[in-house]
Amino acid sequence: MKIALFPGDGIGPEIMEQARRVLAKLDLPGLVVFEGDVGGIAYKRHGHPLPQETLDMAKAADGVLFGAVGDPACDNLERHLRPEQAILGLRSHLGLFANLRPATMFAGLEDMSALKPEVAREIDVLIVRELNGDVYFGEKGMRTTKSGEREGYDIMSYAESEVRRIAQTAFRAARGRKGRLCSVDKANVLETSQLWRDVIVDVSADYPDVALSHMYVDNAAMQLVRNPGQFDVIVTGNLFGDILSDQASMCVGSIGLLASAALGERQTDYGTFGMYEPIHGSAPDIAGQGKANPMAMILSLAMLLRHSLGREADALRVEKAVAQALEDGVLGADLGGTAGTAEIGNAVLEQL
Ligand code: IPM
Ligand code: MG
Repeated sequence: MKIALFPGDGIGPEIMEQARRVLAKLDLPGLVVFEGDVGGIAYKRHGHPLPQETLDMAKAADGVLFGAVGDPACDNLERHLRPEQAILGLRSHLGLFANLRPATMFAGLEDMSALKPEVAREIDVLIVRELNGDVYFGEKGMRTTKSGEREGYDIMSYAESEVRRIAQTAFRAARGRKGRLCSVDKANVLETSQLWRDVIVDVSADYPDVALSHMYVDNAAMQLVRNPGQFDVIVTGNLFGDILSDQASMCVGSIGLLASAALGERQTDYGTFGMYEPIHGSAPDIAGQGKANPMAMILSLAMLLRHSLGREADALRVEKAVAQALEDGVLGADLGGTAGTAEIGNAVLEQL
């Protein structure tokens, strides 16, 4: 089994360190671990946020654990050299089109949610976000209008095949959960969304056991805070999924708790090749201070164990260890507590 660790920028290395300790504790037989540079640090060391050797390392692995990228010192670089291009480049070069972003309330954290505890208690949603298309990867640029002013543009599009494959992922996920799928789009305004909706309806014929509904994205944003318990699986495009998943994290209590998996079609000897990352960013404001909550990173490792290494029992062990640490009141600053990065790591290791 081979996995690649890409810590990246900001708090990335600190939280990755805790994931590495968890890995060591699990002591998986025959595991080989590589480490590579991504993001601003890769730009500084190799002149590119996604060096070829990093990409090759990812391709040679069964799964990739990704910290975070983003560095304010790089904000004025040309777009193709900015740290974020590492994550976007990996997603597209590796064909990782299906992003699974679960948001579930942890026992004991109901009061940390931005929502009323009785509303927050009900949250158990899986956001399935399309990750290789949409306005993220369409033609983009700057041009000058006839009147001489600058105009930025980013083209939004989805091809049928792109919608079909993410729909299949989402229907299958719903089948393994409570059997409800809500497709989120903006079909009242966008042609891209009309196509999206048509294809989702088409695919639903193969999943008669899944109850399908549709929601406009503005309404979905509202319903997520009004009554999040109504959702089981949400399937949506790249941009809407980016926004709704950050929103869902705050409903749970902290963005420092949410993990994600980006999966493609490639099968490894043990499962599906994927890349796993916390949904939060590099948090440059607290980087290097030992304050960041490593739980989302550790939970991302659990997803890697499950999906790419076929080690469901280990994944559950890690998830239980994190949940137990939370229940025991080991809370980072993001949850109003005082536990630092290493202390949270220690608590998880102790549970293991
Ligand atoms: C995410 C992030 C990325 C995205 C950024 C860093 C490019 O916000 O994974 O949600 O927009 O997809
Ligand atoms: Mg995001």
